[in-house]
Order: sequence, then C-alpha cells, then structure tokens
Amino acid sequence: MEFVVENEKQTQAIAQKLALGLQAGDVILLDGDLGAGKTTFTKGLALGLDIHKNIKSPTFTLIREYHTGRLPLYHMDVYRLEETGGQDLGLEEYFDGDGVSVVEWSQFVSDELPAEYLVIHLKKDEHDDNKRTLIFEPHGARYQSLIETL
Ligand SMILES: Nc1ncnc2c1ncn2[C@@H]1O[C@H](COP(=O)(O)OP(=O)(O)OP(=O)(O)O)[C@@H](O)[C@H]1O
Ligand SMILES: [Mg+2]
Repeated sequence: MEFVVENEKQTQAIAQKLALGLQAGDVILLDGDLGAGKTTFTKGLALGLDIHKNIKSPTFTLIREYHTGRLPLYHMDVYRLEETGGQDLGLEEYFDGDGVSVVEWSQFVSDELPAEYLVIHLKKDEHDDNKRTLIFEPHGARYQSLIETL
C-alpha cells in the first residue's frame, strides 16, 4: 500500500488515521533517510492516540515514553546504536508491552525486533522538498488488517 503526500500535514493525517486502529503491543518501524519525516509521522500517530504533548526526537535519549493518550507510546530513535546494536537495552519489554512502539532506524537493532511488525518506508522526492512517498509493508496478519483501516 502506497501514498504520495504533498506536505507535512498530509503525512501527519495518514499517521493520525493509522493510530485509530492501533492496539497494545503493536510495533511500527519507520524507515527512511535523515529528514525523511519519521519523527513527523510519529507526531501524527501521537495526535491520533490523543497525546497532546510536544513529540521531540529521542535521538539522544533513545526512547521517549508518553503515557497520557489512549495507549502508551514508546518512541525510539536508535540511530546512535549503529556501532553497538541494541542488546541489553530491554527493547523486548517495550515491544511486548502494553503500548505502541515506534522505532526510527530499526536496522541498527535488527536482532532485537519481534517477528511481526509494520514497516513504513518514507521516501523523499528529488524535485519537491515537501513531497514524500509512504509505503506500508505489513509483516504478519495483524498489520495487514491494520493497514486496511487506512
Ligand atoms: N510531506 C512531508 N512529510 C514529512 N515531513 C515533511 C514533509 N514535507 C516536508 N517535511 C519536513 O521534513 C522534515 C522531516 O523531519 P523529521 O525530523 O520528521 O525527519 P526524520 O526522518 O525523523 O529525520 P531523522 O532521521 O533525522 O530523525 C521536517 O522539517 C518536515 O517539516
Ligand atoms: Mg527523527
């Protein structure tokens, strides 16, 4: 499933809609270059979960937790783990937990990922700074049905 969006608002609107179908234990991997819009997408997800806090990039903290919405949101940015991987961080406890986990740069913790998840690829456009292609790639039946809500 694929969407072409023209601006940041449209990216967030899709994320917000996706959030309505989220359940405890869901895992979403956001794949894309620097500045592709992974954190922007997460802001839309948070809004859709009724989290009205400023979502800041967790680049230096690795994980930020938000507990004021319909479900807990665990926002991870594991860019800094490129060299080390993510053992000993207890990521499984987040993935198996009572909230929704969103991971930026998940390729750096590939050994820690669960068997099933939704990957969303965000691709920049060569000519238009505000345009993105969002590609939804479900791994597992749960995520297939989740994206059918879009
Ligand atoms: N259609 C769009 N969707 C998402 N972001 C967009 C779009 N158009 C422009 N932008 C801009 O692109 C930037 C995306 O930044 P963002 O922090 O979300 O990227 P990121 O993928 O999380 O980067 P990083 O890898 O550094 O964490 C923001 O400044 C945002 O305003
Ligand atoms: Mg980011």
